[in-house]
Amino acid sequence: MVSHKETVCVTGASGFIGSWLVMRLLERGYFVRATVRDPRNSKKVQHLLDLPNAKTQLTLWKADLSDEGSYDDAINGCDGVFHVATPMDFESKDPENEVIKPTVNGMLGVMKACAKAKTVRRVVFTSSAGTVNVEEHQKNVYNEEDWSDLEFIMSKKMTGWMYFVSKMLAEKAAWDYAKENEIDFISIIPTLVIGPFITTSMPPSLVTALSPITRNEPHYSIIRQGQYVHLDDLCNAHIFLYEHAAAKGRYICSSHDATILTISEFLRQKYPEYNVPSTFESVDKNLKSIDFSSKKLIEMGFNFKYSLEEMFIESIETCRQKGFLPVSLPEQSKSETKVPTTDGIEHKTGSGLTDGMMPCKETAPEVTGNKTDACMAAQQTCA
Ligand SMILES: NC(=O)c1ccc[n+]([C@@H]2O[C@H](COP(=O)([O-])OP(=O)(O)OC[C@H]3O[C@@H](n4cnc5c(N)ncnc54)[C@H](OP(=O)(O)O)[C@@H]3O)[C@@H](O)[C@H]2O)c1
Repeated sequence: MVSHKETVCVTGASGFIGSWLVMRLLERGYFVRATVRDPRNSKKVQHLLDLPNAKTQLTLWKADLSDEGSYDDAINGCDGVFHVATPMDFESKDPENEVIKPTVNGMLGVMKACAKAKTVRRVVFTSSAGTVNVEEHQKNVYNEEDWSDLEFIMSKKMTGWMYFVSKMLAEKAAWDYAKENEIDFISIIPTLVIGPFITTSMPPSLVTALSPITRNEPHYSIIRQGQYVHLDDLCNAHIFLYEHAAAKGRYICSSHDATILTISEFLRQKYPEYNVPSTFESVDKNLKSIDFSSKKLIEMGFNFKYSLEEMFIESIETCRQKGFLPVSLPEQSKSETKVPTTDGIEHKTGSGLTDGMMPCKETAPEVTGNKTDACMAAQQTCA
């Protein structure tokens, strides 16, 4: 528990990671100022308002990364800031103005608001594995010293390139600003985040992680050699680093790596009803996984609590409860015929998903929606 009741701002509070982080902060006694783009949109905020302690410790603030000075009011008077918000439109027709500029300018807007406030003792930024390993030749192990290759990204313009560029430029700009203005800044670098969730929409990263179940083939390459962290471990790591006096620099937050074969083998055994494939095109059975090392975080004293199996089980159970995954596979849908679904991508009927079961556009992102840290791992292969 915090020794005195600190006030912290969480940007992007309505999202998958933001909302869970708000929940954990409220539990620990923090007063939380949650920024959202539309506080009147109940679909985006009701899950926050329903949280334990929300009535007394939570306030909602309207803020948009594209609007200069938007975060000033929410941050003024805060002890800490968790900057989680980011636009993730991989289909953007205008990536420069819709993704890159809002992310970079929004990051600087948050930093400037912190400098103006003079009360903020630390800023924790949710970065992305896409800032680390998007490069031509993959290493076996990545750590905090590694940065993706901007030239390579710009030359390939692979799927999600604007997201990688935006997160890299935003993080680098924040480091420069923090240095010049003596702001205590920390970045946390999650890999693919999965687990239970309290949002009313399907989290983008679960679209990717559960693709062997839904037969969402465009996502297979992303988890070919994937890395994972449980949502709860990630949010606890945010708070751990915020509270740890000696925390400094970048921190990778990733507890497991696994190839798509390992994941599908587990899913086949645990959920035979989904008829998950056991082989994948261009995936050799000797394929090795790529590690994102959390050594620095662990050496600070952080403990990851969740196994890879728990991450998947909890994700699947929540998706089932919220109607994003069928509980079992209808017999007639076990054929391999492809059917169009509401997300515009063909999935094999073997997934058991029908239009009604598939997350629709309103409740789930486009399939290409968050290849992100997702894609980071998939690097150029998801292009
Ligand atoms: N999920 C992962 O696997 C993963 C892995 C590594 C890093 N990350 C990072 O984690 C953060 C959160 O990701 P998530 O998975 O929780 O995604 P998410 O559920 O889509 O949440 C993203 C949030 O950003 C907000 N946002 C988008 N555009 C905005 C804008 N122009 N101005 C203000 N807010 C805006 C959204 O707010 P509104 O709802 O108010 O529109 C939403 O709450 C991102 O920074 C992402 O880079 C995610």
